[in-house]
Amino acid sequence: MSTIDYAEDEPKNPPDSGSQKISAPAALRNREVIAGAIDEFLPKQGNVLELASGTGEHVCFFAQRFAHLKWQPTDMDPSRLASIESHAAAEQLPNLAAPISLNVAEDVWHSRDADVILAINLLHVAPKSVTRTVMSGASNVLHGGGALIFYGPFMLNGTFSTESNRQFDSYLREKNPEWGLRDIADLDHAANAVGLARVALIDMPANNNLVVYQKRDVTPLD
Ligand SMILES: C[S@@+](CC[C@H](N)C(=O)[O-])C[C@H]1O[C@@H](n2cnc3c(N)ncnc32)[C@H](O)[C@@H]1O
Repeated sequence: MSTIDYAEDEPKNPPDSGSQKISAPAALRNREVIAGAIDEFLPKQGNVLELASGTGEHVCFFAQRFAHLKWQPTDMDPSRLASIESHAAAEQLPNLAAPISLNVAEDVWHSRDADVILAINLLHVAPKSVTRTVMSGASNVLHGGGALIFYGPFMLNGTFSTESNRQFDSYLREKNPEWGLRDIADLDHAANAVGLARVALIDMPANNNLVVYQKRDVTPLD
């Protein structure tokens, strides 16, 4: 198994020939605290669509922890899809679907409906325009009342919450000028334009946030 450091977002070792599994120490560190935080936003039953599942370690952990829900991992990178498949094959979880290729930068997502959409550490390693496509894609896929949950480092109203987040933002922009921490005010703006409203903003360890949007319930006409 190779390991990946998401501060660099590059595998440290080439995948070994025996396994396509990749491991992210960051995902192993934060999965417990993320599970604790998302718990209150998950329904009693339904489908969770994970965007940018990466190694697949989060989704395997969440599918075991929240076994009453069906989990659909996705990513756009074939090596990540292979890793998700390898981790999932080892776990054999009945509520974990095979990963599907989904590029969240595309305007139209060929994905099933979802009650919850989860995106961990995605928006800062994608162009700014992806904030808009994720909001509109999520709005199309979510059922009324469904939740879109982001976890990661963010800015708020043009301000970094910590010096280390400012440094991380500079590091990301040096690596790729299109990357960088996104501002929650911009997320709110893109969300509101497609019928999503922010319902929670929670401080998380290591200068991260959980940001939760909800799709407006469609009120039936009488
Ligand atoms: C920093 S990693 C986070 C992975 C995982 N969510 C985690 O926290 O361990 C970013 C992931 O986003 C995926 N990604 C980047 N741009 C994407 C896009 N446009 N569509 C889908 N996935 C994307 C990458 O392939 C990578 O797996």
